[in-house]
Amino acid sequence: MDMLPELLGRRARRALSNEVLDKTVVSRLMEAAILAPSCFNNQPWRILAVERNQESPEYLGLAESLTPGNAWALEAPLLLVFATAAHLDCRLDAGRDYAFFDLGQAAMALQLQAQREGLYTHPMAGFSPSKLKNALKMPLELVPLCVVAVGKPGDPEKLAEGPRKSEFSPRSRKALNEVAFWGDFSNPWA
Ligand SMILES: Cc1cc2nc3c(=O)[nH]c(=O)nc-3n(C[C@H](O)[C@H](O)[C@H](O)COP(=O)(O)O)c2cc1C
Repeated sequence: MDMLPELLGRRARRALSNEVLDKTVVSRLMEAAILAPSCFNNQPWRILAVERNQESPEYLGLAESLTPGNAWALEAPLLLVFATAAHLDCRLDAGRDYAFFDLGQAAMALQLQAQREGLYTHPMAGFSPSKLKNALKMPLELVPLCVVAVGKPGDPEKLAEGPRKSEFSPRSRKALNEVAFWGDFSNPWA
């Protein structure tokens, strides 16, 4: 059995075209996200789509909240803000707050659908949560966990030097025997 091509092909690319995305495609991405499983089907995800628009205070505020290292994302025609709060999902003993887990599942479902649509997606934690929340009138209770830049593939030559280098870097992952086990946790994957 082969690996899913969307899993193999997805990379957090930075060379995004600023071409506007079709709303139907964006709707499919949202539909993909909400097909994710969640604890008790609580569906704790809240996803805000913000289009690149230099005249929109929301977009400008969101753009301003990104860290300088994420300046490449200012070309993205679409920024998706993924937010949740612990009370929106199961809160079980031993610190098991499932909202954050389930939000991640929704984000991954969206990224795989985007890959299928020929789009790049790039998740980012590099932003100021307070600036972002103010700019987007986000309810105080929500935690903005991730901003995902979405766009068609762009020209890597237009990237600044740092991001350009990352763009062509090989994918790097820990070995399975560092993160996976068999039977119990004393037995690393062989
Ligand atoms: C929660 C999260 C936050 C991330 N934050 C940033 C970020 O702020 N800026 C950035 O350039 N990449 C960010 N990344 C992208 C990762 O660096 C990237 O996914 C990782 O290096 C693995 O590369 P790959 O996605 O191409 O396989 C983030 C990824 C995740 C999942």
